Amino acid sequence: MTREQTINLGAGPSTLPTSVLTEAARDILDYQGTGMGVIELSHRSSTFQNLLKQTENDLRKLADIPDEYAVLFVQGGGTDQFSATLLNLLAAYASRNPDAPTPAVDYVVSGAWSNKAIKEAQRLFPRVNVACDVRKNIGDASQPIPRPSQWNLSQDAALLYYCDNETIHGLEFPVDFIQELPEDYRKRVPIVADCSSNILSRPVNIRDHGIVFFGAQKNIGPSGLTIVVVRRDLVVDPDALQAQYLPPIPTMLVYKNMLDNGSLYNTPPMFPIYVSGLVFQKLLAEGGVPSITKVNQDKADAVYGALLASPNVYRLNVAHADFRSKMNITFRVLGEDGEPSEEAEAAFIKLCGEHHIVQIKGHRSVGGVRTSIYNATSLEQAQTLASVINKFAGK
Ligand SMILES: Cc1ncc(COP(=O)(O)O)c(C=O)c1O
Repeated sequence: MTREQTINLGAGPSTLPTSVLTEAARDILDYQGTGMGVIELSHRSSTFQNLLKQTENDLRKLADIPDEYAVLFVQGGGTDQFSATLLNLLAAYASRNPDAPTPAVDYVVSGAWSNKAIKEAQRLFPRVNVACDVRKNIGDASQPIPRPSQWNLSQDAALLYYCDNETIHGLEFPVDFIQELPEDYRKRVPIVADCSSNILSRPVNIRDHGIVFFGAQKNIGPSGLTIVVVRRDLVVDPDALQAQYLPPIPTMLVYKNMLDNGSLYNTPPMFPIYVSGLVFQKLLAEGGVPSITKVNQDKADAVYGALLASPNVYRLNVAHADFRSKMNITFRVLGEDGEPSEEAEAAFIKLCGEHHIVQIKGHRSVGGVRTSIYNATSLEQAQTLASVINKFAGK
């Protein structure tokens, strides 16, 4: 199969724009006439530092990141941020409330990734509160997901954590959903969003959050890079604090170390940073987040429209239209008895393969089919998927 033919709908690492990879292929041998490839430069060279600065500036423009937020380029994946967000925000709480007893931390559980985050928090900290667990409602149209005003919130929370787009379950919160949290809570409690699988696919209001983090390997670039956008006043030195509940934080997880050293505390993930920078430039040239939001809406409309047109053949995993992800569309294929059928799913995946649509098997924990239509998937490719969905249903 050739690259031109292939429609790669993998959930991550996922498809990247061909023009970006073509440029990267050239620069990997010789970056800007230095005679050295971009991954052979010293990370302390002015060439790389300029690249890093440009990448940060472009991201700031794209995501509308105000100056009072720092942008950190780190390693360790989204998974490291499950502990880093918790530990750094406990330190920020201890710094603001030096004499307060152990605070609580609030978590919204909406799928596999926020569940991993809360599990990590429970390993590290005793007062973890489930603000809301919507997992049992995902497939149930009659049980709406509670509005934030109904969540079980702690009076003394050091953070509220949620995952904006659950890559495995295909549940995405509506834009600005968390603005429905009580105003006094929002002012008091830093909100953490894991936007790994929907960043730059639609607007996210950074100012509503204490931290927004995302792994690169879906909408942005190669794996190996995670970007943390954190309000500067939340970045404190944990070693200067006395709070009994605050465990020592491993050096690489301390945001202050990254901030004070311009993300160059140690050797950064240079190649993913470089490729992400190219993706940012491309997105800016094409009209930024407002333009891609519209394209993504059209893509999602095409695919969901085809699935919903054949309810006796497909069952969407997320029942509520408002919560269906525009990035990861997850569904079951039904057998003749109207129930999910692995055999029917295998036949569907086979037909997709014949149309060069690949990497669409659902995550092993939920089964079924998952088609990920990130920014680099074109409207035309999504329409091809929709036509195969229709073709299969017509058989
Ligand atoms: C929403 C979300 N959060 C976190 C992660 C974990 O990221 P990583 O594999 O980079 O640790 C993933 C991975 O797919 C994800 O989709």
